[in-house]
Amino acid sequence: MAYKALYRTYRPQTFEEVAGQEHIVKTLKNALATGKISHAYLFAGPRGTGKTTMAKLFAKALNCEEGIGHQCNKCRNCQAIMDGSHPDVLELDAASNNGVDEIRELIDKVKYGTILGKYKVYIIDEVHMLSVGAFNALLKTLEEPPEHVVFILATTEPHKILPTILSRCQRYDFNKVSEEDIKERIKTILLNEDVEYNEEAIKLIVNLADGGMRDALSILEKVLAYSGNTLKVDDILNIFSLESKEEKINLLNSIIAHNMSDVLDRLNKYITKGTDIKRLTEDLLVILKDVLIYNSSSNESYLETLNKEEAKALTYKISTDRVVKMIDILMNTVKDYKNVTAINPLFEITLIKLCSMDDEFSKKVISQPKVETKPVEEKVVAEEAKIPEPVKVEEPAPTIKEEVKVDLPIEDTKIVEDVIILKDAEGDEGYSITDNQMVNVMVVSKKEIKSELLEGWKNIKRLTIHPSLGKAATLLIDGRPLVASNKIVILEYQMPKLAEKVNLKDIQAELQTVLKQVFNRQMFVYAVSRTRSVDLQALYMNLLQIGKLPKAKDVILEFEGE
Ligand SMILES: Nc1ncnc2c1ncn2[C@@H]1O[C@H](COP(=O)(O)OP(=O)(O)OP(=O)(O)O)[C@@H](O)[C@H]1O
Ligand SMILES: [Mg+2]
Ligand SMILES: [Zn+2]
Repeated sequence: MAYKALYRTYRPQTFEEVAGQEHIVKTLKNALATGKISHAYLFAGPRGTGKTTMAKLFAKALNCEEGIGHQCNKCRNCQAIMDGSHPDVLELDAASNNGVDEIRELIDKVKYGTILGKYKVYIIDEVHMLSVGAFNALLKTLEEPPEHVVFILATTEPHKILPTILSRCQRYDFNKVSEEDIKERIKTILLNEDVEYNEEAIKLIVNLADGGMRDALSILEKVLAYSGNTLKVDDILNIFSLESKEEKINLLNSIIAHNMSDVLDRLNKYITKGTDIKRLTEDLLVILKDVLIYNSSSNESYLETLNKEEAKALTYKISTDRVVKMIDILMNTVKDYKNVTAINPLFEITLIKLCSMDDEFSKKVISQPKVETKPVEEKVVAEEAKIPEPVKVEEPAPTIKEEVKVDLPIEDTKIVEDVIILKDAEGDEGYSITDNQMVNVMVVSKKEIKSELLEGWKNIKRLTIHPSLGKAATLLIDGRPLVASNKIVILEYQMPKLAEKVNLKDIQAELQTVLKQVFNRQMFVYAVSRTRSVDLQALYMNLLQIGKLPKAKDVILEFEGE
């Protein structure tokens, strides 16, 4: 039997099989149902998230003999599209054929009618790689495309595409596939392949895949080739040079106990084995974040990698202050990895730093069992922090695209009694919230509200078909509540573009109405990209560490329109 890679075998054959990307499936189906077919589409988004797949599915839906919108997978058209032999559905990989000639040749054929189907569909992958000449040739065709022709341009780097091309395309932004969706797809495949698995192994693969479905399936395949019919955590760790959770906890325990020789022994072992040190550093960060979260919330549902017992055990041994300092050191290390070639020595220095960190507090904690942990925020409020000067209300940035840089020198950051007023200058299309103001929101945010939103977020889906709220609901579904207070919710988006759309003034009222309908809460909606979210959390941590977070009672939030 000819061998076929998992990701090929399991390429979705109908819109329904596509994991995630609901907003795109919905819009394409709608276009097919109403016959409003555009001549040019741009599918933009990260690798392996379904762009080419979706293009082929759309080609099928245009040409299926059962009628437009169908994907019977049985008729001549469907079958030929599936095996890549359809004379009217042409795939061109701009990464390899970037010459003007290829495009010319392709475009020459545009004027002829179809051979087998109703539509000629040109799928141009990695379109940002086309040469300028080829782009111009393409542009000419896009200006006056024949009735029966549809171009689908796919790219992972939409910013590299000429504006003149962009303006002629209907653009669809693909998202990274969510952990839940990847998990579900992997489970379906494992069931089908008769493979035994446990949840932890799947979780590990999902983490490694980082939102790419093709990557997830390639990883899965590699592991199965190695271990046969059972998916085992140990095998995954081996293949990808990862350390087990147990090992990472042991390492942390040695660090906490200032056991330098044990820490260095472990390091030598990693180096000999060829452990992925960058990944290990990031994993240590995740564990410490869990410790911090557990320390301040004692709520197991917020934990990412530790279970309750593990979190409890670590929390017991180490003070919040020290965890925060360790996180800080490790975060700097992760940043520094980008600028050095010698990863191992940098990690060694980091371990030595962590190990020799002076911490009277944690020794005290070890010798006398902790009675109760105070929530982080309360602790800051209780401290006799000197009151920083009030900060002037800052003018919002001129456009939402220019997000304020986060790397503020800490000394300059004074935040207290800052008022958020989102009144922009006339003519601006979007809202913008500064970093200082975001920290304020984080300080007054309430975990219960965030949990409530997270839990009910899926219910927004039903409004995506609503005639006037559909657009707002579709946009919201792709976001994830990051923090929320009584008055505002901050959403996090993988795609910066989507965050920008949320912050447009025009859509605010609809966004609020959707949340009002689903959660019965009146809240201002603001969005940040994943990158900015990470930076903000780092800023928050830094301020927490130096005792400069504002007090919750001093923060007043006000919004335009109240
Ligand atoms: N959203 C998805 N749902 C289900 N499977 C998916 C999805 N995205 C990707 N896959 C799997 O990954 C394979 C590759 O996907 P596809 O070629 O569509 O990705 P792509 O976005 O075009 O990637 P690239 O940017 O690298 O071209 C598919 O055959 C399928 O098995
Ligand atoms: Mg592709
Ligand atoms: Zn068909």
